[in-house]
Amino acid sequence: MRRTLIEVLGESLYTMDWLERRVRYHLDPLQCTGQIFLSVLPSGERLGYTIVRREEATLGLFSTTYVEPEWRRRGVAQALLQRGQEWMRELGLARAATYTAEANTRLHQLYLNNGYALFPSQNGFVKLIKEL
Ligand SMILES: CC(C)(COP(=O)(O)OP(=O)(O)OC[C@H]1O[C@@H](n2cnc3c(N)ncnc32)[C@H](O)[C@@H]1OP(=O)(O)O)[C@@H](O)C(=O)NCCC(=O)NCCS
Repeated sequence: MRRTLIEVLGESLYTMDWLERRVRYHLDPLQCTGQIFLSVLPSGERLGYTIVRREEATLGLFSTTYVEPEWRRRGVAQALLQRGQEWMRELGLARAATYTAEANTRLHQLYLNNGYALFPSQNGFVKLIKEL
């Protein structure tokens, strides 16, 4: 999460303590219906991850996605997006969405390729959303 924030927004914004609590929040069923999907090689090397959660009754949210720089443009984020969408469909969610910076055209393209529509949001962010 920290590296995503630094890369996308230019600064972390949050302390490591806050970020660790945020990760644990997504894995605590008492607080959140969420999941973290990791892309991992058989050797154990981590290539990337995505964090998802149920945001509203029928909306699934991709909270964060990050792929290690040396593993980019090899379909890792695409695979994570598909896995996250499967998880949302299994929960019976009707729509999937994510928010990112207006300038994050790499992520826009990934979601646009997967049938999402892009809308302006607040504070320099856009929302990408589609029916599942
Ligand atoms: C955005 C990010 C997750 C993409 O991960 P990735 O594994 O390289 O993406 P994929 O290889 O699965 O690419 C899927 C599609 O996304 C788009 N895309 C990915 N990187 C791109 C780039 N540098 N330029 C243009 N399009 C790009 C393309 O449409 C690509 O399909 P293609 O390779 O067939 O053209 C990765 O660059 C990253 O971790 N960035 C920093 C963190 C971030 O921005 N996170 C999202 C904000 S929450």
